[in-house]
Amino acid sequence: QTRILTGITTSGTPHLGNYVGAIRPAIAASLAPDVESFYFLADLHALIKVQEPERVQRSTLEIAAAWLACGLDPAKVWFYRQSEIVEIPELSWFLTCVAGKGMLNRAHAYKAAVDKNRAEGEDDDAAITAGLFMYPVLMSADILAFNANQVPVGRDQIQHIEMARDVGQRFNHLYGEHFVLPEALIEESVATLPGLDGRKMSKSYDNTIPLFAPRETLKKLIYSIVTDSRAPGEAKDTEGSALFQIYQAFASVEETQAMRRAFAEGIGWGEAKQALFERIDGEIAPLRAKYETLMARPQDIEAILVDGARRVRAQHVSPRMKALREAVGLRDLS
Ligand code: TYM
Repeated sequence: QTRILTGITTSGTPHLGNYVGAIRPAIAASLAPDVESFYFLADLHALIKVQEPERVQRSTLEIAAAWLACGLDPAKVWFYRQSEIVEIPELSWFLTCVAGKGMLNRAHAYKAAVDKNRAEGEDDDAAITAGLFMYPVLMSADILAFNANQVPVGRDQIQHIEMARDVGQRFNHLYGEHFVLPEALIEESVATLPGLDGRKMSKSYDNTIPLFAPRETLKKLIYSIVTDSRAPGEAKDTEGSALFQIYQAFASVEETQAMRRAFAEGIGWGEAKQALFERIDGEIAPLRAKYETLMARPQDIEAILVDGARRVRAQHVSPRMKALREAVGLRDLS
């Protein structure tokens, strides 16, 4: 049996990168037979970056509504808030005690923060929290707690999944085969969706297109995607074109081929942007309507999350933790 698990950090408004990298493939994968899926809101991870309680709460609601609007069925998929699974931080500690510090030194997010400090002439670890450093261990706990074997993510998360494998393997080596080692599930055509400025679409670069931006805002944002200055009639490069890459993430293989030809034949940027807008809006508009209905009833979303956490703890996490506490030599609390 396949177990699929993925999470989104509740540090902002869900964007197209989250949708094509995680939400869309996860929902498609969960429809296959013999699959059990676990989709959650990584609100403990959010605390690493966001120290504004209202923002974490707002983001939790928005990301939960986004999953539901995109078709997640809480009767078929385990759907919960990470922070309600109180066993996760406990497991995270067990894993902290086997994780190599040298491995964590190499984590991209931590290294980027060190590099930034160096560039600014600061001490290596200036203003870096232990939370940022331990981020990959907490993420390992999320995955290993459920013995998930497939994790649909964008390319930026591959290293974290490899670290989860490493940590799981070390634990297994010391205590016996408790953990299944997970694999990343990456959709190659959309592995890294670029943002408005051509860099990876990311909350930290402020270059995102919100998944459920109102139609007019969506259009305005799409028209603001960077392009070169070639005029209509001049052939355009698909290579390195943010516009083309985003188009590809939303179009069929045939449509992508047609757009490739249009680029070669010198389609104007305005026309290409209009085509992209129509493609995205065509896919998103029905979901946007559902999202708006859901956002008008936050108490319903809350009830779904509370119920999901309660059930998944009883069914999966409690028995797992009982076995793991015993494995490491701690007293059984049940
Ligand atoms: P987060 O919140 O940064 O992103 C959520 C998901 O969206 C994907 N993604 C993208 N995919 C393609 N192109 C982009 N520009 C893009 N931007 C974001 C991410 O790859 C991710 O799949 N640490 C995770 C959350 C997490 C998690 C987990 C994920 C916590 N525990 C366990 C999987 C399993 C994160 O911060 O993702």
